[in-house]
Amino acid sequence: MARPHVEFVQSQQVDWQEEGTGTAVKPLNIDPDTGDGTVLRRYPAGVGQAPAPRPGTSMEFYVLDGAINIDGHELAPHAYGYRPAGTPSLAWRSDKGALLLEIREERPVPTGEPDPAILINSLAMPWDVSTYDPQLRHMHNARKVLRLGSGDSGRTFLLAGLPHGFPEAPDLPLEKHPHAEEMFMIHGEMKSPQGVMRDGAYFYRPPGIWHGLHVSEFGFLMFMRSPGANRISTHWSEQRHPIHYRPSFQPVLPEGAPTSWSAPHSDRPTY
Ligand SMILES: [Fe+2]
Repeated sequence: MARPHVEFVQSQQVDWQEEGTGTAVKPLNIDPDTGDGTVLRRYPAGVGQAPAPRPGTSMEFYVLDGAINIDGHELAPHAYGYRPAGTPSLAWRSDKGALLLEIREERPVPTGEPDPAILINSLAMPWDVSTYDPQLRHMHNARKVLRLGSGDSGRTFLLAGLPHGFPEAPDLPLEKHPHAEEMFMIHGEMKSPQGVMRDGAYFYRPPGIWHGLHVSEFGFLMFMRSPGANRISTHWSEQRHPIHYRPSFQPVLPEGAPTSWSAPHSDRPTY
């Protein structure tokens, strides 16, 4: 069995689980066979150590809040790291506490090419605005590529979109891909047929699932992955569908997901 379809959950609705190593996790999407997948991990101020990855499993992370020191490197929000399978266990320390998005996975397609370790400050990277898909031009997207896997095994990137990301037409085609898509909303808002994704929203969409339509009133900054491909390839539907600008929350959740995942959550800040 593979990682299940989750589209989407607000991570605020997911319970913390203590891990017995001083850290706690919110499991967002886990392969039931391996236990690998994507979690939010909270490091307490002081001592806290993530469990070592399983043999053959890589670890990828993005700092969302606080600060963490890894092998002498002090990392602030928007730092990104990739530790290939076989990387020796690291010394992690957080003096004031930290919140990280963390992905552990087996290499999908073993190749001769080893994946290099990565540790970068994404804040210092320039935005790439050269790759607008014409069907998504209304969102005025920009991208920062954090990682390209060897053997076309998957890309990790930041995607940003401007506010008022509405098309002129009242309808759009649906899209699907031959690879999976995964997203964590660092900040912002995006409307979809499953509801309005806000700060902390998360989805994992396996390959071959029709999805969309996506529009954004207030703009967004997303952490995204395309497991199984280094380049997004999209098949657009011939039929166009009306856009819902006030969608209600109708998530796709795996069987057995906690009821809190589908509970209504606060919409916008009130004043
Ligand atoms: Fe997509």
